[in-house]
Amino acid sequence: MSENLLRITGIKGSPRSQSNSSRMLEEVLKGCNKAAENFNQEIIKNIIKPHERNISACIACFHCDRTGECIYRDDMPELIKTFDRSEIIIVASPIFFNGMPSTLKKMIDRCQPIWASKFHLERPIIDRNKKRRGLLLGCAGAPKYQDQFTALKTVGEMFFKTVNTRLLAQKFIPNTDNQVLEKENELLARFRELGEKLVGEFAKTGRS
Ligand SMILES: Cc1cc2nc3c(=O)[nH]c(=O)nc-3n(C[C@H](O)[C@H](O)[C@H](O)COP(=O)(O)O)c2cc1C
Repeated sequence: MSENLLRITGIKGSPRSQSNSSRMLEEVLKGCNKAAENFNQEIIKNIIKPHERNISACIACFHCDRTGECIYRDDMPELIKTFDRSEIIIVASPIFFNGMPSTLKKMIDRCQPIWASKFHLERPIIDRNKKRRGLLLGCAGAPKYQDQFTALKTVGEMFFKTVNTRLLAQKFIPNTDNQVLEKENELLARFRELGEKLVGEFAKTGRS
């Protein structure tokens, strides 16, 4: 494997195709591309759309506590491998009822085998020592109010801990039902900067 290769996994929480979440993610990826060119890094991008994947809901049978594996043979084992291989993981999600869409939450709940393999079995199914960096992005339709992003932040942070990924930044944008993100050039530029920062982390300080 090339020393300069960075695998970037973007997780798109919105089920809509033309969504604010996609826009945020696209801008971050543009920043990643720019930094990759500047720093001579090779990147492979992979976008995961949980709502289009075959992911069963966790039924809390605790099979993974005993085996490190899930009873379901759906898309999750492959997605867990993808998280493991990634150097960069970006979650971009809208707020639904003060939390994240159920399709994204279902995917996160199904990361329980990772947690169980580390803390119950002490046989981790992902590399805990690999350097990974993450970004948590959120958007919400209503004007800013208290605790609008609290649940996304709490669950998101736990996901990133579970996949042994250090969060470089979190950015939450309220009022997306009233402001057109497309026209917010300053804001879009901030997302590109975050992408540059993510790739820069590896280009400047290496893989460990
Ligand atoms: C089912 C549902 C629930 C929502 N709940 C909230 C909410 O609790 N708070 C809020 O500010 N916006 C809420 N919204 C608005 C969305 O967060 C907003 O439209 C967002 O831009 C959608 O993200 P997207 O553009 O990435 O699809 C909700 C939207 C839907 C469809």
